[in-house]
Amino acid sequence: MMSKKRILLCVTAGIAIYKVVDLVSRLIKREYELEIIMTESATKLISPLVFETMGKCKVHTDMFHLGHHEEVEHIELAKRADLCLIAPATANTVAKITYGIADNLLTSTVLAYNRDLMIALAMNTNMLNNKATVENIEKLKQRGVQFINPEVGVLACNTIGDGRLAEPEEIARKIDEYFIEKDLKGKKIIVTAGPTTERIDPVRYITNDSSGKMGYAIAENAKKRGAEVILISGPSSIEVPKEVESIFVNTNNELKQAIEKNFNWTDCLIMAAAPCDFKVKEVSGSKIKKTGSNLILELKENEDILAYFGNKKNNKLLIGFAAETDSLIENAKSKLKRKNLDYIIANDITKPDAGFNVDTNRVKIISKNKIVDLPLMLKREVANNILDLIK
Ligand SMILES: Cc1cc2nc3c(=O)[nH]c(=O)nc-3n(C[C@H](O)[C@H](O)[C@H](O)COP(=O)(O)O)c2cc1C
Repeated sequence: MMSKKRILLCVTAGIAIYKVVDLVSRLIKREYELEIIMTESATKLISPLVFETMGKCKVHTDMFHLGHHEEVEHIELAKRADLCLIAPATANTVAKITYGIADNLLTSTVLAYNRDLMIALAMNTNMLNNKATVENIEKLKQRGVQFINPEVGVLACNTIGDGRLAEPEEIARKIDEYFIEKDLKGKKIIVTAGPTTERIDPVRYITNDSSGKMGYAIAENAKKRGAEVILISGPSSIEVPKEVESIFVNTNNELKQAIEKNFNWTDCLIMAAAPCDFKVKEVSGSKIKKTGSNLILELKENEDILAYFGNKKNNKLLIGFAAETDSLIENAKSKLKRKNLDYIIANDITKPDAGFNVDTNRVKIISKNKIVDLPLMLKREVANNILDLIK
């Protein structure tokens, strides 16, 4: 995350208020600064003390308390916020905001606030679908209010339907997205991720160790930073980042074809995938049976996809990865030159906290004339360092 941003969190009396305690904890972990306002009704569902403790901030509830000689609270709260979020937002408060009603500290502050407003709706399905609410939401959307749509699920009123507050992580993600500078707007990026697989027979295959975490983190951050992204992924259990177009492949050849299809479109290819260097020479059409003796498979080298696209890249940016066990820099530099890359991200996979299947990585970004040695960091932070190269 960039500099500390101040969020004005407005909490109203929806039953999903308990999820907002979790949201507060997530926002604090992400190093946002919070100021919290609760409606009087909200304080009947959860004590302000819970929010004060979790949010490490004062919770404002009363418009008419004494001590206004230094500042008028609702005006100052509105001025200080970088973003105002109402969560959970009741049908009642949404209606008041639509009509400019300012009958409590929360609605008065929102009326005095003149920057971007986000509303995370939470209510019973009938309340949500009521024409009054539907029209209010429509009017607010037309004024530029951003809604975090509720989800379909089991509601507190024991019904299943639309109206459940979005998950706290999803709301936190939307806030991150809001604050991220869209410095890659206009860029078109292909990111490859995960392993490829090569068949031995219909039930067995060979593959590489790769979770896909690094490539998925790059794709997600590139999207957040405003780029158009195509993620081409081998088998991976990671969820595809929201709003990222994805193509799934198995073999090396499928990976190559998928890139080829989109290569003219892209400005930059980031090859974080771990393609199989070898494939079985004779793939068996039927399951190979055990015979009681050793099985010898003859492997042949797969086509080098990175070198192939390095050959035809022209002015496109090409970034590769080198996962090495020995002579890291030497091997990575040779790969950079041989495959005509602009950058190579080298990581020593013998370290337990870097490389495959972990959330952290320690890499060196190597170009023709420079080596940048990054310390151990989360893969999503490594992703941002890599994306800075495109900027
Ligand atoms: C237990 C309980 C749960 C409620 N849950 C919701 C809800 O999820 N969404 C909603 O719009 N109203 C809900 N209400 C109704 C609101 O609390 C009520 O409309 C109230 O006036 C809202 O006040 P506020 O908008 O000032 O916080 C609930 C009420 C109770 C008693």
